[in-house]
Amino acid sequence: MKKVLVWDLPTRIVHWLLVAAVAGAYFTGDKGGSWLTWHERLGILIVGLVAFRLAWGFAGSTYARFATFVRGPATIKAYLAGRWQGLGHNPLGALSVLALLALLALQFGSGLLAQNDDTGFAGPFYALVSEQVGEIATRLHHKVFDLLAVLIGLHVAAIAFYTHVRKDNLLKPMVLGKKEVGEGESAKGGGPRALFVALFVAVVAAYGASGAWVDKTPPPPATTAG
Ligand code: HEM
Ligand code: HEM
Repeated sequence: MKKVLVWDLPTRIVHWLLVAAVAGAYFTGDKGGSWLTWHERLGILIVGLVAFRLAWGFAGSTYARFATFVRGPATIKAYLAGRWQGLGHNPLGALSVLALLALLALQFGSGLLAQNDDTGFAGPFYALVSEQVGEIATRLHHKVFDLLAVLIGLHVAAIAFYTHVRKDNLLKPMVLGKKEVGEGESAKGGGPRALFVALFVAVVAAYGASGAWVDKTPPPPATTAG
């Protein structure tokens, strides 16, 4: 047996920040009222984290790359038949990773266009769309969260299943990075230059989503003739 690096540090930091930020977004969204200011900040942080993870899926180290873990149906079938050996996300788990990232994107995407009726608090782009679109986005924001909560529940249940039934502890590598294996190589790549690029993508995405660049000066009052 030897110890190999599976999850590089940025992947782990992003995962645990995401867990904390999503928990915080749930808490603040549920409380509503003045908590929505923090809800927005956490939402923007989540935009940055997801953008980082997407960029890291191309620039990061071996097992963090989409090319390593996103597989076709044939590999998923082989995995289900017990004929798959590998490190990192298994071919089926990879689907849940993609689903989690996609639902998070739908969640913050709809949040950016949503509005809270009680406080008038609105996402940064609410004012740019029609009232009807804003309403649909707000409804979507509620519905997608329910789906996301189910998926997160399944995600945690799957990890508990692997740990207790399959006797494969997935949690330890997501905390400490390394895993003890019979064969397999440590993750390679994801050096400082890749980190810089992914951070840059994350900051640009978060800035874009914050709406700080949108001109918020109200239009001049309409002059009425006569
Ligand atoms: C992935 C990130 C996000 C998560 C997990 C999340 C989750 C939630 C939850 C659970 C609620 C309460 C829903 C309910 O009471 O049933 C909520 C409400 C809300 N969220 Fe988010 N949210 C996220 C991102 C955002 C972003 C980026 C914005 C933009 C500012 C935003 C704007 C809002 C607004 C305006 C409400 C109130 C909607 C209403 O009163 O109907 N959210 N969110
Ligand atoms: C808000 C809740 C959560 C979200 C949005 C989330 C999201 C994700 C995502 C996107 C990945 C893929 C990691 C990557 O490739 O970068 C992942 C993996 C993982 N998550 Fe979570 N997660 C959440 C909660 C948790 C919790 C509470 C635990 C602890 C029990 C956990 C443990 C893990 C582990 C161990 C992996 C690696 C799985 C593997 O080896 O394939 N997650 N999670």
